[in-house]
Amino acid sequence: MEIIIVGATGILGKAVTDSLKINHEIIEVGLKNGAVNADITSLESIHSMYEKIGPFDALVSTTGAVHFGPLEEITQEQWQLGLNNKLMGQINLVTEGLKHINDNGSFTLTTGIISNDPIRFGTAATLVNRAIEGFVTSAALEMPRGVRINAVSPTILEESVEAFGPYFMGFDPVPASTAALGFVKSVEGLRTGEVFEIRGAI
Ligand SMILES: NC(=O)c1ccc[n+]([C@@H]2O[C@H](COP(=O)([O-])OP(=O)(O)OC[C@H]3O[C@@H](n4cnc5c(N)ncnc54)[C@H](OP(=O)(O)O)[C@@H]3O)[C@@H](O)[C@H]2O)c1
Repeated sequence: MEIIIVGATGILGKAVTDSLKINHEIIEVGLKNGAVNADITSLESIHSMYEKIGPFDALVSTTGAVHFGPLEEITQEQWQLGLNNKLMGQINLVTEGLKHINDNGSFTLTTGIISNDPIRFGTAATLVNRAIEGFVTSAALEMPRGVRINAVSPTILEESVEAFGPYFMGFDPVPASTAALGFVKSVEGLRTGEVFEIRGAI
């Protein structure tokens, strides 16, 4: 399969790329790094990415920014970060991608474990993650031509503990290579409209 991975140069994206490149041709997309550059906050940029790449079989998104901070201090701009970037960025990857994806292709988006296991300072992220999961559940019903759509919801990655560990006390981190299995399951499997949670022991 020809698979576009948006966010391929990140911590999660690198592991997903390593897993999928064994059997597939990967087009690595990043904001500044990667073979192709695109900015998911710009519809025009997403459009030109798809024009450049042409028809494809699967789109995997392992990108998306959200604000973390105390609820009472979140500004309008900070709410908008997650809404414009992780939420609408990934939705626009799907709606624009539908114009280019081959029959029986698939989309796989990224959410995060705090969708269902909320933490202090994580309200903006939980909001966005659940919205993405709601989108996936409903959009699956209207996917044309056998196209599938799922989300993967990883817990905190071992590789990110140094940066975000204090937010995730009591969570069991997993290596990014374990989280990558959820993406392989989505791309290679038959299921659609689902959220694959990747948890550690807790
Ligand atoms: N890390 C974790 O523990 C963890 C756990 C659960 C869920 N997640 C979710 O997984 C996703 C990726 O996290 P990560 O830790 O792997 O992030 P990361 O290491 O910062 O990587 C981000 C990736 O996205 C690309 N990117 C950044 N802004 C972009 C934009 N506007 N348009 C297109 N691509 C853009 C980056 O490209 P460049 O290299 O060019 O900058 C890079 O490839 C996020 O949605 C995050 O919430 C992460």
